[in-house]
Amino acid sequence: MKFVSVVGARPQFMKAAVLSRALRQKHDEILVHTGQHYDDLMSDVFFRELKMPAPNVNLGAGSGSHASQTARALEGLEAVFIEQSPDVVIVFGDTNSTLAGALAAAKLGLPIAHVEAGLRSYERDMPEEINRVLTDHVSTYLFAPTATAVGRLRGEGIDRGVYQVGDVMYDSLLVSLPAARKLEAPLLASLGVKPGGYYLATAHRAANTDDAATLAALLDAFGRLEEPVILPLHPRTRDAISSLGLTPAANLRLIDPVGYFEMLALERNARAVLTDSGGVQREAYFLAVPCVTLRTETEWPETLAGGWNVLAGNDVTMIVEAARRLRPESQPLPAFGDGRAAGKIVEILERDSPNR
Ligand code: UD1
Ligand code: UDP
Repeated sequence: MKFVSVVGARPQFMKAAVLSRALRQKHDEILVHTGQHYDDLMSDVFFRELKMPAPNVNLGAGSGSHASQTARALEGLEAVFIEQSPDVVIVFGDTNSTLAGALAAAKLGLPIAHVEAGLRSYERDMPEEINRVLTDHVSTYLFAPTATAVGRLRGEGIDRGVYQVGDVMYDSLLVSLPAARKLEAPLLASLGVKPGGYYLATAHRAANTDDAATLAALLDAFGRLEEPVILPLHPRTRDAISSLGLTPAANLRLIDPVGYFEMLALERNARAVLTDSGGVQREAYFLAVPCVTLRTETEWPETLAGGWNVLAGNDVTMIVEAARRLRPESQPLPAFGDGRAAGKIVEILERDSPNR
């Protein structure tokens, strides 16, 4: 079979890497990068670390308003799909690149496989929520990571083509942990921190970076913690901190985005993780590291079980208290599959495709 896989933003690269490996054992895959993320540390580093095939095409969509970024990707993807005429188009997650891929394929009548289907925050002012809902409603194969995701699709009347396969992020973590472990001692030493002696924080959601009071509250909360807080900055957050003239407290270590193995190593050894990232919330859970989510809702409610994840929004007291006190006693539950989601996706595509 012939597949076109669409990636564009950081969290899509590791998901595509595991699926690509499984697909390419028997099938042809054309990998298209929309160019939504383009800095070396937001894109190329993952291709290098994960030994991913170079994209066959990079559409150079770049940054911009939602409409202009999505439109550039949409137009470029349509041309690739027409030229390649794939059996199935594969899209991942909920970015503007995901929506562009789904929309271009749907209008050409091509079957769409959505990896990470059925996630909902039920917040329509969150750009990703629009992308997820629209993508799910035009998809042919909806690969849901969890039972909750399957239930949410059912709630919207979608029950055909839904498969609960587990989370490809979990597959990816399992195969990447040995490499992450190898670099953790020198990495921690270079940052001057010890295992369990620091917090790791990330924030990049529009709701957190684009509002001055919210971003200031997050930095204030991090600054009140006793241990160092390592903060690999998404470029959007770096620019917001600088344009708002915010001054981070002395315990904050603002660093460039790190590679995937480095990130897993930093997560694994952190006292707790503070984040608004969907991927980082799950990785903390997989690694049994407590997490404080800098949002008031999560698409991953399974991570809340046993107190492993706490929703603290931008409330300074809640963030600080949660980060200091989180000590879950039970073990995380295996709610995200068995680490073989990618293999299951390929088997289903082989079995259920009309063009096989
Ligand atoms: C996007 C996704 C979000 C995902 C995140 C992963 C959408 C709507 N949002 O958010 O769901 O969680 O990626 O990281 O698709 N920038 C750079 N260099 C880059 C990329 C971006 O400097 O390589 C800066 C630009 O100023 C850009 C801003 O970051 O305007 C935001 O980038 P964009 O891709 O639009 O959204 P993200 O916040 O990255
Ligand atoms: N990540 C990384 N380096 C960083 C920050 C994040 O490799 O500096 C990884 C992280 O481990 C996870 C993924 O990027 O695998 C999550 O991406 P992001 O937080 O940008 O997006 P989200 O998951 O929120 O959509």
